[in-house]
Amino acid sequence: MELDRAIRARRMVRAFDDLPVDPSALTELLDLARRAPSAGHTAATEFVVLTGDDRRRYWDLTLPAERRANFTFSTLPLAGALVLVLTTPEAYPQRYSEPDKRRTGLGEGLDRWPVPFWWVDAGAVIENLLLLVADRGLGACLFGVFEHEAAICTELNIPPDRRIVAAIAVGHPSDDSGPRGRSQDRSRPPIEQIIHRQGYSPAEPEPS
Ligand SMILES: Cc1cc2nc3c(=O)[nH]c(=O)nc-3n(C[C@H](O)[C@H](O)[C@H](O)COP(=O)(O)O)c2cc1C
Repeated sequence: MELDRAIRARRMVRAFDDLPVDPSALTELLDLARRAPSAGHTAATEFVVLTGDDRRRYWDLTLPAERRANFTFSTLPLAGALVLVLTTPEAYPQRYSEPDKRRTGLGEGLDRWPVPFWWVDAGAVIENLLLLVADRGLGACLFGVFEHEAAICTELNIPPDRRIVAAIAVGHPSDDSGPRGRSQDRSRPPIEQIIHRQGYSPAEPEPS
């Protein structure tokens, strides 16, 4: 699939068949996905991959059986693989303490970063992965872990300096796409509303 077609075709998939994702294919996707730009080439994005019965270690914590029965996206937990995307914020000041970056002052600590580039870099990896998944005819849905982060880290032995950026279910889309996501019907703003040429243009006043 060409890149522009993959970009247009990609949509979050929330209904999956109970089928495994080929492990070597998934490794290839993750290896491609990580070839994203990163600040100072810090490359601090990591993945925790759960497949088979290990997927339950995530779902049992975040969506216990009593809630799963009424869960809108009932086949989401069937996705063959669950990829947790991790970042290490402290890796950034460490990298920027090295001689070629020291003059930036960003090595002095996380609070010196006006934009926390660890989240930006993980986002670039994530978008690569979502596009690759679409390209391969698989499906993916990204969601946050919110209040479950600490429990998941404990369950999966994730070191304390790592943060979970997001979870991504990857699998074989079900023919029945299931209920629509709550945000799915929102439209994008017109392109001319988000491109500000030669400076930021204020929004047109609403006609009265
Ligand atoms: C940072 C982020 C968090 C999201 N969290 C959720 C989520 O918790 N549950 C969900 O069903 N979809 C989630 N989504 C998917 C969005 O709802 C979806 O990307 C958006 O509605 C646009 O639809 P599309 O990706 O199918 O084009 C999230 C997407 C992003 C980028």
